[in-house]
Amino acid sequence: MAGEQFVEHARDGDVHVLRLANPPVNTLRTEVRAGLLDGIQAAQREGARAILLIGNGRNFSAGAEMTEFGKPRKPPSLPEVFDAIEQSKVPVFAAIHGNALGGGLELALACHARVATPGAQVGLPEVKRGFVPGAGGTQRLPRLIGLEALRIIVSGEPVTAEEAQKLGFVDAVLPGDLEHAAVAWARENAGRQFTLARHRKDKIEGFDAAKFDEAAKKLTARSRGQESPLGCVAAVRAAFTQPFEEGLNVEREQFTRLVQGEQSQALRHIFFGEREAQRIPDLPADAKPLPVNRLVVIGGGTMGGGIAMSAANFGLPVTIVETSQEALDRGLKRCEANWQRTVSSGRLSQAEYEKRRALLSGTTDFEKAVGEADLVIEAVFENMEVKKEVFGRLDKAARPGVVLASNTSTLNIDEIASATKRPELVVGMHFFSPANVMRLLENVKGKASSPAAIATATEIGKRIGKLPVLVGNCDGFVGNRMTGKRGPQIEKLLLEGCLPQDIDRVMESYGMAMGPLATGDLAGLDIGAAVRKARGTVAPVADAVVAAGRLGQKTSKGYYDYDENRKRLPSQEVERIILDLAEKMQVRRRKIEDQEILERVLLPMVNEGARILEEGIAYRPIDIDVIFVNGFGWPAFRGGPMFFADRLGLKAVRDKLAHYAEVTGDRNLQPTALIEQLAKEGGSFATLKGPAKV
Ligand code: NAI
Repeated sequence: MAGEQFVEHARDGDVHVLRLANPPVNTLRTEVRAGLLDGIQAAQREGARAILLIGNGRNFSAGAEMTEFGKPRKPPSLPEVFDAIEQSKVPVFAAIHGNALGGGLELALACHARVATPGAQVGLPEVKRGFVPGAGGTQRLPRLIGLEALRIIVSGEPVTAEEAQKLGFVDAVLPGDLEHAAVAWARENAGRQFTLARHRKDKIEGFDAAKFDEAAKKLTARSRGQESPLGCVAAVRAAFTQPFEEGLNVEREQFTRLVQGEQSQALRHIFFGEREAQRIPDLPADAKPLPVNRLVVIGGGTMGGGIAMSAANFGLPVTIVETSQEALDRGLKRCEANWQRTVSSGRLSQAEYEKRRALLSGTTDFEKAVGEADLVIEAVFENMEVKKEVFGRLDKAARPGVVLASNTSTLNIDEIASATKRPELVVGMHFFSPANVMRLLENVKGKASSPAAIATATEIGKRIGKLPVLVGNCDGFVGNRMTGKRGPQIEKLLLEGCLPQDIDRVMESYGMAMGPLATGDLAGLDIGAAVRKARGTVAPVADAVVAAGRLGQKTSKGYYDYDENRKRLPSQEVERIILDLAEKMQVRRRKIEDQEILERVLLPMVNEGARILEEGIAYRPIDIDVIFVNGFGWPAFRGGPMFFADRLGLKAVRDKLAHYAEVTGDRNLQPTALIEQLAKEGGSFATLKGPAKV
């Protein structure tokens, strides 16, 4: 039987140990389920006094095998394994170390009792993949711990073994070697009477609907249109209000509906995409990252400070270089204040704060600091002359072989590299603001960037908690270049009938963290104005808003008015500006449907994304989606712009682009050759076989 290889059956006297052995994380693939079933039956036949389930390697189990999703299910199912456990006359215990997540925790919940190592993580993260726990988790956990189960299931956040013990779903926390301790625990406790979770009533009695609904409302307040949190609420509610078997049916209905739904497909697309995007197809296998023990960041402003904090947060010593002691002090203070806020909110211990603070240093001695650097990231003003001057100095001061990276968001990496004698060691490392928070890192490959330089930027990005995606060198790189293309359509929508709040409402109900106009207010409207001035372009509405002294949140007014709590309010002045302009430009205003707003904001980005793929600026469509989800507030449950296009269908994308190009006179919306081709072939971005080359 194939299962034997995936579940080892060991006998420690009369305690039988079944070890899950499916590296690396013991997912519950078919063979594991079969092995468990066989093992449980065999142990009973052989007269075991107790059966202990434990994981090989670093985890108990990370849950279901996601690659089996959407394929015909092979028996035995998890519920069949759970039935065998629950019908066993011999008690079955789970011994948890590392993680027990999703189906892994559900397996443990079906057991007669659970023990765990200190610090083990247990949770039901299904909600984050767009569905609900599907093997009884929503029914058993509430029966073990009551209403607290709702928080764990709806948030998807794991808790530690200690917290789980307090809540009541871990029976003992055992220090030392787990198998050894758990076998002893099993032997000692085998004779006890255990009530299976399914038979427990004490925690679900006296259901208080009002209290439940209030908790559910709080927990789902930030779901922004995501369906799975509501599915979790429905399933958990059934645990309190219906018999066990009927509750399982409610859970199953929610699971089946959601797992096949578009949102969960989108979330899986992003889940796998984030792994894929970190693989660089044309990087030679022997490209090795250079060792980095000290990072030097040039410029301690908004971005430099954030980058330095990221390094210290992940244990990498970092030095900020500034031009004056005053600017340096300001930069360091901002980092300290930021960390202190995290301490005050209880999310960071004082000891951890001190550890991070000790890893951060600062100086105004450029040459000395750079001479000691293993990697330099430059984050000075966004000005080519300034950058070239800085890179010329960096090249002279840095040891040979050290990589010099720029955090520029718009400037040409090749031109920056030309100021050095080591262009092969110059790359872009484009962080996003706030740099200590945002996960995305667009690493930019210049025409001379060597594999070692790219490998180093990738490796350091990962080490400091980022998700590096390699892109090619062009104006705005991938993310900013695509979002920039929304501008003309937003301007036209404002003139034709929308107000800022209409556009933001549509985009936020789609799930965006923040609508484009509110985002503009946050970043400062003067930035866009300066770019337009430099490029000689106009945006009548934006220009008029800026001319009225409305620069965004920093002046308490932009597209919106802001009160003293930075709450945004619709602005009558902006409405007047827009109506006056529309009249002057003889645009007849009309009511614009939400769907049209959504398409006219998203499709220009899709078209530009296709252009980016044609030019080889991104390796794969998934890279673009990963960039938007991790750096631009695009909700993961919507899958990103290229996923959006695929769901609409490339033929519809083509037709809509052509239509909007014609009626709005925006030539940028002419469908690109790639979209024309995919539309004609019935293809999609997901199946695109492109030249994966940046
Ligand atoms: P900032 O103005 O807040 O900080 C720049 C800092 O560099 C200042 O503190 C300045 O004193 C210092 N500086 C200037 N010349 C220097 C030199 N020769 N040596 C040492 N320090 C020097 O600017 P911010 O926003 O941090 O931007 C920095 C870079 O990051 C720019 O290239 C910008 O385009 C890029 N960026 C900015 C983002 C943002 O949202 N602010 C996002 C992504 C990239």
